[in-house]
Amino acid sequence: MKKVVTILGARPQFVKAAVLSRIIAKKNEFEEVIVHTGQHFDANMSDVFFDEMEIPKPKYNLNINSLSHGVMTGQMIEKIEEVLLIEKPNAIIIFGDTNSTIAGAIAAKKLNIKIVHIEAGLRSYNMQMPEEINRILTDRISDLLLCPTDTAIENLQKEGFDDFGARVVKTGYIMKDAVEFYSKFSEEKSKIIDRLELQTKPFILATIHRQENTDNIEKLKSIFESLESISNETQVVLPLHPRTRKILAENNLDYNLKIIDPVGYFDMLELLKNCKMVITDSGGLQKEAFFNKKYCIIIRDETEWVELVKNGFAEIVGSDKQRILKSFQKHKEDTLSFSINLYGNQVGLSIYKELKALVLN
Ligand code: UD1
Repeated sequence: MKKVVTILGARPQFVKAAVLSRIIAKKNEFEEVIVHTGQHFDANMSDVFFDEMEIPKPKYNLNINSLSHGVMTGQMIEKIEEVLLIEKPNAIIIFGDTNSTIAGAIAAKKLNIKIVHIEAGLRSYNMQMPEEINRILTDRISDLLLCPTDTAIENLQKEGFDDFGARVVKTGYIMKDAVEFYSKFSEEKSKIIDRLELQTKPFILATIHRQENTDNIEKLKSIFESLESISNETQVVLPLHPRTRKILAENNLDYNLKIIDPVGYFDMLELLKNCKMVITDSGGLQKEAFFNKKYCIIIRDETEWVELVKNGFAEIVGSDKQRILKSFQKHKEDTLSFSINLYGNQVGLSIYKELKALVLN
């Protein structure tokens, strides 16, 4: 039987892989071998996703984490190559823009294994971001580039992809399928709204983890001060990434917010459904807010998801306290219609169709 190797490492990748793995298993037309690089390793950053979304257990866990970018990526390339030499897959599947993504791409390309990049073509046009570097390099050596939006297709055309011999297709954004499918389960399984006593109190959902925000202490302070100020009016629930928690502790920074440990996907879906608004520097959460009909304040200087901003569902405010507070005041009572379809339909199946054509050929 033909075979694909899927490389996973970070939280959003687990969610996207859950949708695709389910389809691959059901169709049973080729085999999938899952490799976990170990980039995210805490139980609530990793295991919980595999358990509740029933992602097949990884055949390999490379256990590579908590290292500088170069060491992490280097070790991943080495170990993924070993796996590819054993498994001899017909293609490798990689998601998004993490160090695990670029490592998988480089290892596969040097072995002439076809690369399928899901979430191709996104650009922030900010070369300071590790994710932007990962995206550009990964796209350039991928064979099948599956794009979530028209903007992603246009970005690739601008970079000359029409002449590169790779197949570039718009499939839509796979997280949409995840939100639709797993929402049925989260309602039944998640107890987070009761546990945090949020049934009657309106709340804002916030997450902060990007290196560009966490590694600049002035920015970090400004962001957290604004969240604290917002929480005087509406409480702010903040599932905190270990990176951010560590930096706050190292700098003796303490804020009066409802800070909780990172949550699994079911809990996140329930928080999204029940919150009033989302404030985040995450890429994934921006669209998950949209799918759950919530306005999103983006704590970055740019976004790859420009259609959200263009259509009035999100605002980019950076890390400046006054801008964050102003945006909150401006949008806190918004009642928007979220009926526009920005990210496609049955995205998992569209991706599977393209994948199958590549693998079975
Ligand atoms: C990574 C991705 C980012 C993605 C995000 C999703 C890169 C360059 N960045 O960022 O694109 O949006 O995942 O969440 O690949 N840590 C723990 N426990 C964990 C995971 C991380 O303590 O389970 C610590 C690490 O030791 C490290 C820090 O958090 O010190 C950052 O982790 P890292 O994997 O480098 O990047 P993320 O910020 O998670």
